[in-house]
Amino acid sequence: MAVIADNCPDIFVTLVDKDKRKIDSWNSQDLSKLPIYEPGLKDVVERNRGKNLFFTNNLKTSIEEADMIFISVNTPTKITGLGAGYASDLKWVESSARIVAKYAKGHTIVVEKSTVPVRTAELIQAILINSVNKNTIAEEKTFSVISSPEFLAEGTAIKDLENPDRVLIGGDDELAINLLKDIYSRWISEEKILLTNIWSSELSKLIANAFLAQRVSSINSISSLCESTGADIKEVVCAIGSDKRIGRKFLSPGPGFGGSCFKKDILNLVYLCRFYNLEDIANYWEQVLIINEKHKERISSIIIEKFFGTVSNKKIIILGFAFKSNTNDTRESPAIKITKNLIENGAQLFINDPKVSNKQILEELKLKEFEIDNLSSGSWQFASDIEVASKDADAIVILTEWDEYKKINWGSVSAKMRKPSWVFDTRNILPKEKLKNLNINYWQVGT
Ligand code: UGA
Repeated sequence: MAVIADNCPDIFVTLVDKDKRKIDSWNSQDLSKLPIYEPGLKDVVERNRGKNLFFTNNLKTSIEEADMIFISVNTPTKITGLGAGYASDLKWVESSARIVAKYAKGHTIVVEKSTVPVRTAELIQAILINSVNKNTIAEEKTFSVISSPEFLAEGTAIKDLENPDRVLIGGDDELAINLLKDIYSRWISEEKILLTNIWSSELSKLIANAFLAQRVSSINSISSLCESTGADIKEVVCAIGSDKRIGRKFLSPGPGFGGSCFKKDILNLVYLCRFYNLEDIANYWEQVLIINEKHKERISSIIIEKFFGTVSNKKIIILGFAFKSNTNDTRESPAIKITKNLIENGAQLFINDPKVSNKQILEELKLKEFEIDNLSSGSWQFASDIEVASKDADAIVILTEWDEYKKINWGSVSAKMRKPSWVFDTRNILPKEKLKNLNINYWQVGT
């Protein structure tokens, strides 16, 4: 939304949320206190906030005054009830539609921006239409629902929004579609704006994420095969990626994919397939998730095996807790499972991340900093200084590909570590030459 404001100075963009604390942070004078870390976002907010970009809790007035409303709320996986563990929980989409239905005036275009199961637009439409029927001044209130899913990736969000591969608009109300198209056309070329029917638009978002996740699971699965056969995953990626039909993107092996979207969207896809009695297809896509879970377990097992089956009382430095670099997001981060496994095996972890706080790590691990895990005697603490933490450390495990970690002085770090020491590079970011002659053992995924 901030990028729309940035590109369209004549359009007033208001971000509305019930959560006062969130809105206060978006309005904070200190731009380092924005609720999310995203390269370039601070500058966009600074340029536009208070001019044509506003953050408010005032739902009523904002909705009353809006010509177009984007529903961009979370759609997490349901944890209870029908479809629990698979289906998306649409309660926030539904409550947003009800609030829009209540306060909207005149004609309002409602854009479905959240990632949703196919046919969610039907639900939104039903809620909105119902509100018109019950309204005494019905003729003053009309709605058009269109879909325009978001394809940005965290860490590159501003770049992706400024220069997307494509923008999708789904629907059948030509007027509404053209109005949204006019907004995007201010900075996106016409041929990148794809128009589809509303169900294709909703489904395409799920399928794009499923395909991307499938590539990551595929390359991670091949990384195990490389380790067993003597092939090198980097060479394999180069060889297969040179085929234009395959391409090189999204073929970096790692500790497993994380983030709030891939797992949730594939679960949702699996649910959808089962709903339509497409059991084989559901099983096919579910395998992408199963491989991802097993891959995370494989990484922690390798670390434990390299220490002859026990990491009890081993001092292990974890580099990176975010699910990828350039974000402070830890949702579904592979670091959660891998660090939990190590703690459960008695390791003493020193966790570093340039953007993730110790409070956030505590929330994910559900074990307080310095607290000893009852069953295993494992523990964790935050390590802000990697050099200091490396004193007598047995291992360093790279889980997030932050640039900072590429610049570590391995000579000095290795000299402080207890021998035999190990570096586990799950992101393949360190050139082997850097660690040569340093009296440190080295493991890299897929080699
Ligand atoms: C993903 C999609 O890429 C976006 O297009 C989509 O809009 C977004 O989900 C969403 O639905 O909101 P995001 O989850 O932010 O974006 O991040 P990705 O760059 O896709 O990475 C996801 C995970 O895969 C990360 O853990 C990343 O480290 C991992 N990954 C990615 C790899 O392990 N290897 C790769 O080659 C690429």
